[in-house]
Amino acid sequence: MTKPIIIDCDPGVDDAVALFLAFSRKNDLNILGITTVGGNVPLNAVTANALTTCHHANMNHIPVHAGCGRPLVKTHLYTAEHVHGKSGLGNAQLSLALRGPGAQHGVDFIIETLHAHPQKVTLVALGPLTNLAMALVKDPSIRDKVEELVFMGGAIYEGNTPGGQAEFNIYNDPHAAHVVLNSGLKTTMIGLETTSYAQLTRERAQELLTLGNPTAKMVFDMVELMHIADLDWGKKGCVLHDVCAVAYVLSPQYFKGKACHVAVEMDSPLTQGRTVVDWHGKNSQSAQVFVTNEMDTEAFFTLLFQALSTY
Ligand code: RIB
Ligand code: CA
Repeated sequence: MTKPIIIDCDPGVDDAVALFLAFSRKNDLNILGITTVGGNVPLNAVTANALTTCHHANMNHIPVHAGCGRPLVKTHLYTAEHVHGKSGLGNAQLSLALRGPGAQHGVDFIIETLHAHPQKVTLVALGPLTNLAMALVKDPSIRDKVEELVFMGGAIYEGNTPGGQAEFNIYNDPHAAHVVLNSGLKTTMIGLETTSYAQLTRERAQELLTLGNPTAKMVFDMVELMHIADLDWGKKGCVLHDVCAVAYVLSPQYFKGKACHVAVEMDSPLTQGRTVVDWHGKNSQSAQVFVTNEMDTEAFFTLLFQALSTY
């Protein structure tokens, strides 16, 4: 039985690789649609990148709908062209998609699709949580249509935005994260501690070329810029953050973590966007999020390379 999912993303190099992983698992995942949110690059660019990624993978039948281009409350987006390149997909040579996004707003697409699907749907969020927050505010009844939310975002300890306090997706829209994390959805957090197990080193990146297909080559071309940026944060390779979220949906046994209370700092000028994870269970609030902190690196890369070898 395939698992119905909606992927909300801001491609973004690691988002695109996450999509390639999801696309390859046709017997496991029924991708009902892709919605885009401003993040790594502005909304028009992330939407074009989602369409291009579908085109490269011959997945043009999957609906793509543009969602929100700015956070709920903060007045501007902190984009990451310095990590993902001006296009948002690093140095990849992109062939233009032959279609545009669907006419319906991404938030409405999420709501309508959740109501229309006969089974509960798993939401996979790979960017700021603006679209999901808007959907939950506009139609709280969708909560009963969601199997689980798996999101890449947050951190138990240090972040990856200037000042080191907040992780990029939550930093960009802390208010949306607050709404989503307090919505009552069954939620799993794939934070920076977990994604640190997904560092694509140059040696592993070279192995992509041995797969001998254009998608693996596109991934190789995409990751170099992000690799350089990640070295600046003391990493040993390009951190494939979003791929971990899709890997969790496919193989949760590769992950460790525990239920914790998670709050979001929304106001402090110093720490806005920080996820405050009660890892040791010291406060009395409900542990509403399954917070992962470990992943089996070898199993993860075996999963990813097996997927990329199918193109
Ligand atoms: O902090 C990493 C996250 O921010 C990833 O989702 C990356 O694509 C960016 O959106
Ligand atoms: Ca992302």
